[in-house]
Amino acid sequence: MSNGSSDQQDVPAHLHGAAPLPYATVIAIDLVSGSKRRGETLRAAYRAVAAIDGGEIAAWLALGESALPSRADRPRNLRRMPSFAGDVLDPAQSHGDLLLQITGSSARAVRHAAERTLRALQHQQVRWRADGTRPENRTEDGRGLSRNPFHFTEGHGNPATAAEITERATVRTGQGEPSWAIGGSYQVIRIIRLATDFWDRDTVQEQERIIGRRTEGRWLDGTPSTERAVFATDPHGKTTPLDAHVRRAAPDRRHPPPMVRRSYNYDRGADDQGLIFSCFQSDLEKGFEAVQRRLQGEAMAKYTLTTGGGYFFVPPPGEAWLDRITEN
Ligand code: HEM
Repeated sequence: MSNGSSDQQDVPAHLHGAAPLPYATVIAIDLVSGSKRRGETLRAAYRAVAAIDGGEIAAWLALGESALPSRADRPRNLRRMPSFAGDVLDPAQSHGDLLLQITGSSARAVRHAAERTLRALQHQQVRWRADGTRPENRTEDGRGLSRNPFHFTEGHGNPATAAEITERATVRTGQGEPSWAIGGSYQVIRIIRLATDFWDRDTVQEQERIIGRRTEGRWLDGTPSTERAVFATDPHGKTTPLDAHVRRAAPDRRHPPPMVRRSYNYDRGADDQGLIFSCFQSDLEKGFEAVQRRLQGEAMAKYTLTTGGGYFFVPPPGEAWLDRITEN
């Protein structure tokens, strides 16, 4: 499904040309139809999503490992999301055969599009759902930015050009992937609950040392947000602590992690608010998994709890992949 923005038309909907739309819902679905009808059901789901994509909505479908029973069909890195150190995955908020993500310019537009799609998929079962927003959603220097529940600007570390976004997020030939998957993307969702009360008790200076950037994005040594930080001149972490989030996430500034982040905030009231963390990559191990491993033991860990999410694969644009994976 394509993105309607004029400057980055070649970027598919899930990668959002300039910036993600400010409202989203992610819906994980379990296919209840028998395996014989799997092809038909996937096609119906694909068409239902294609019917709402465009205008003020950008929507896409992604496949969980369980939607592709034949190993030969399955993208190489696609598996059930493992539980990482510190995760407490709730099965009622994790995994699923399909992921349907609908993003839009208003909460109402997203809600209506979701109702329409779910009606078309009435025989399938919603496994879990999360609604999100991107407060202060905007584009600066080609990057989509928003404000996360810890009051920090998100998005500075993302690539700014369509070419770079595609390079990091899209499967190419020669990666050892099934040929139908070329042009697709791995999508990781993590439902991360954030202890905002506990966080808000710290001073802004303490919070900035935990993240490794100022709330607006400037680096702790004063380097502007759009330039590269130089950690090599601070080997002991006097200015930017060694366990700061950005330092762990991207220690080598010349080789940024090969992933594109597109997260939304969620707020379910009471104590349950946080991030619907979402990222796209061409290689799950080099992208999300490598960063997630480095983040183990980061200073922010005591404020976060991952309770759900999953690993999915967004097929390439068009319908050809449907024929290829249902041939077998
Ligand atoms: C727990 C919730 C999280 C919060 C509150 C958070 C917050 C932030 C903030 C404020 C930044 C700096 C601005 C930016 O570049 O966007 C950032 C950067 C980044 N985060 Fe996170 N993040 C979270 C989880 C994650 C996770 C789970 C991953 C991946 C496994 C991740 C990977 C990254 C990467 C790669 C960068 C860019 C680093 C750079 O290039 O400087 N973050 N995050």
